[in-house]
Amino acid sequence: MEYTRLGTSGLKVSRIALGCMSFGDPAKRLPWVLDDHGAEPIFRQAVELGITFWDTANIYGLGTSEEIVGRALRKYVHRDDVVLATKLFQPMHQGPGGAGLSRKAVMEQVDASLRRLDTDYIDLYQIHRFDPETPVEETMEALHDVVKAGKARYLGASSMWAWQFATMQHTAQAGGWTRFVSMQDQYSLIHREEEREMFGLLAAQGVGSIPWSPLAAGRVARPWGERSSHRAQVDPVVDFHGRPLFLDSDQAIVDAVQRIAEDRGVPMAQVAMAWVLKNPVVSAPIVGPTKPHHLAAAAAALDIRLTDEEIRSLEEPYVPRMPTYF
Ligand SMILES: NC(=O)c1ccc[n+]([C@@H]2O[C@H](COP(=O)([O-])OP(=O)(O)OC[C@H]3O[C@@H](n4cnc5c(N)ncnc54)[C@H](OP(=O)(O)O)[C@@H]3O)[C@@H](O)[C@H]2O)c1
Repeated sequence: MEYTRLGTSGLKVSRIALGCMSFGDPAKRLPWVLDDHGAEPIFRQAVELGITFWDTANIYGLGTSEEIVGRALRKYVHRDDVVLATKLFQPMHQGPGGAGLSRKAVMEQVDASLRRLDTDYIDLYQIHRFDPETPVEETMEALHDVVKAGKARYLGASSMWAWQFATMQHTAQAGGWTRFVSMQDQYSLIHREEEREMFGLLAAQGVGSIPWSPLAAGRVARPWGERSSHRAQVDPVVDFHGRPLFLDSDQAIVDAVQRIAEDRGVPMAQVAMAWVLKNPVVSAPIVGPTKPHHLAAAAAALDIRLTDEEIRSLEEPYVPRMPTYF
């Protein structure tokens, strides 16, 4: 495994992060996720591979992902050896502190996450989205207070417009509050809209990108049209705005991944992940494993240097689109 600083912060993370949205109670939200038993070989492999950066969220499995991660932290690894990331924003219950980024929600949700994770600190506490219903000053001061209380070490953000992120960072600086060190954004061969505005901003501010769905939820890790896994059969094809998660034209990109993978004799996931990793603003893509061999393929991507010709064939067919899920 390789390790890097998260942006220009002092926090050292593995260059591949373990996505814990794959774990939880399948009766809650996502039917394809793995329980403690199913997750065990994946946690063990993460530890063997040196993948020390683990990402979950309060909303995953409505808290059950955090509970599984909490048990894994005691069973398979030393707590201090892991950089533990979780998130808040999405609705955990109907009450005033159940969702969003108000001071009330921040204080309630951080304590609820700590309880489920069974730990006394979170390394990277992330806002899952921008909250248009709370003043940015209120959110940034509350998050700062969470850091000062020792409940979180660093702050991160996830999927929003670049102007919203810039506003939050500026507000933190103006108030003398803690700034975000990471941006968890959707980025893969078939979702490249972050290249327009966000990545330039992150580079200028020394913020590390930790892309979610770097394999486009598996779509660039298997031949076009193949849907043999449980997740592939039940995953939505549009986001909650009805925006398509992939376009017909993406087939040319997936075909290019397959061709390069066959020529090199490696799994498609390794090629697709190598492409994400080569972007200098990317600190660590967050892979979502559902089978034990998935993490090994992600880690092996660190050994691949794509040629200019390969990069051209992967990038040329891309068609711009609206970002999804925010
Ligand atoms: N901040 C946010 O809004 C947000 C949103 C989504 C996710 N996330 C985070 O990002 C993490 C990753 O998201 P994701 O699961 O969508 O990411 P992903 O890595 O793009 O997709 C994971 C899927 O890709 C397939 N896959 C992974 N490795 C493979 C391999 N080596 N060979 C073949 N197929 C492979 C599997 O599909 P099959 O199961 O179909 O085989 C797996 O379910 C989550 O766990 C979560 O921590 C954050």
